[in-house]
Amino acid sequence: MSASGQEQPIASTPWKPEMLPDAPEELLCSRLDRLGEGLGKVVYASQHWVVKRERSASAIIALILIWKVLRKVAHVLPRRLGDRMLRRPSKMIRLARVLIQPFVLAVPKSIWLMTHAGELWRVHRTRDRRGARLARTRLAGTSLVPERVEFPPTRVRVNGWPGWLVVSEATERAEQTLNQRIAALAGRGRWDQVEEWLERLLDLRQAGWRRGLFSMDPHLKNFGVIGDRVVLLDTGGLTRKWSEIEQRLSFQQAAEEPHAQLGLQRVLASRPDIAERFNARWKDVVNQSVVLRNWPER
Ligand SMILES: Nc1ncnc2c1ncn2[C@@H]1O[C@H](COP(=O)(O)OP(=O)(O)O)[C@@H](O)[C@H]1O
Ligand SMILES: [Mg+2]
Repeated sequence: MSASGQEQPIASTPWKPEMLPDAPEELLCSRLDRLGEGLGKVVYASQHWVVKRERSASAIIALILIWKVLRKVAHVLPRRLGDRMLRRPSKMIRLARVLIQPFVLAVPKSIWLMTHAGELWRVHRTRDRRGARLARTRLAGTSLVPERVEFPPTRVRVNGWPGWLVVSEATERAEQTLNQRIAALAGRGRWDQVEEWLERLLDLRQAGWRRGLFSMDPHLKNFGVIGDRVVLLDTGGLTRKWSEIEQRLSFQQAAEEPHAQLGLQRVLASRPDIAERFNARWKDVVNQSVVLRNWPER
């Protein structure tokens, strides 16, 4: 990555994460707060580290069902409410999940796998595992991702249900997600810095391509800020397959404007000029010929 110059050549042997004899002390000395969540994971944090709890298949399928229903009914709900529920997992979604999960559990997994929700779950799980593996072999130890450490299985206390968790790895905590950083800067009218961070995101993406990796999920909540770096927080969207990359790039051209795909619609609502400039810049960089130009020799 250009910002810190720590990008390293692709190692022939995978980088080994640091294996500690014990979990970092700060994970043990207090209850960890819930920091964020995605479809597949709930993330808890101490001051410098995060640990992740993987959701069960039934919890993920329940969330997918809720999301599908919400997408169908969003247009009849008051607009702000529908939008808000789709944008981030609110208390209401959590409650709905708890109510629906027993129903999911009552139906055998083989039946779920024949449904669209089951198919989405399977794809999500496969991509999540593949992305984690690619990050371990191709990104670990570089400035592109937060540091990761491993340690013997350790029980940590967390706020909220179920109150505890057994973990054997922790990831460096980012200062903020890129989403949060950009919203904060926009709130203070620091538009020059908003554009600077978006440019750093494009730098990070290109550094990934040079390692033969492409991230299919560009939403800004999956990226974090550490010092002057943008780092990839969610490795679930990583791929090396050209058929997938091509599909993603052509979908991108047909779909919403890039700034909307990244989750910037509201933040840039008052600055259509910046949105337009960013979209043009994104299209200049995120396209097949530039990806190919960066891609290592095949
Ligand atoms: N290292 C980290 N530092 C700070 N926040 C993080 C970190 N890792 C994840 N998060 C937060 O937790 C959320 C969910 O984590 P993520 O790995 O994206 O899970 P999922 O695979 O379920 O999407 C992220 O969107 C981000 O807000
Ligand atoms: Mg995520």
